[in-house]
Amino acid sequence: MRQMAAWSLALIGMVASASDKPDERGRAVYERCLACHAIEQHRTGPAHCGLFGRKAGSAPGFADYSDAMKRSGWEWTPATLNTFLKAPMQALPGTSMGYAGVKDDGERAALIAWLQKAAKPGAACQVPR
Ligand code: HEC
Repeated sequence: MRQMAAWSLALIGMVASASDKPDERGRAVYERCLACHAIEQHRTGPAHCGLFGRKAGSAPGFADYSDAMKRSGWEWTPATLNTFLKAPMQALPGTSMGYAGVKDDGERAALIAWLQKAAKPGAACQVPR
């Protein structure tokens, strides 16, 4: 009986740590972006490495930005990213990012927090040329 209790406690611990970890949650939300994006390389959308602090529409070597993105005058910060990702096509009419957005505030916050780490240039994230 005692063994059973210990086993179920361990199981509860595992389940809790998988869903409570903010990094894990943010990474899981980013999987929706992988259809078009990667951290390190350009795909349908631009690479995200080095995103924060960069002017919108300025990832080196990405040639397919819309005029709307290039002229937005935005700089990527957690705040601008939050506005854009909530409803991309409403926030920036004319964007070529055909994606409805991440509507859930908690999911968006987790995604942005994770991206701030994952997109930071460093050993695992090389800014594409
Ligand atoms: C259907 C494909 C598609 C999906 C899905 C998608 N994107 Fe995009 N994304 C694009 C395209 C294309 C652009 C370029 C948009 C433009 O120039 O107007 C873009 C641009 C961006 C930019 C601007 C980057 C820069 O260099 O200025 C950010 C940030 C971004 N996407 C984040 C995301 C995130 C985060 C997700 C997932 C929640 C996501 N995107 C999902 C296609 C996509």
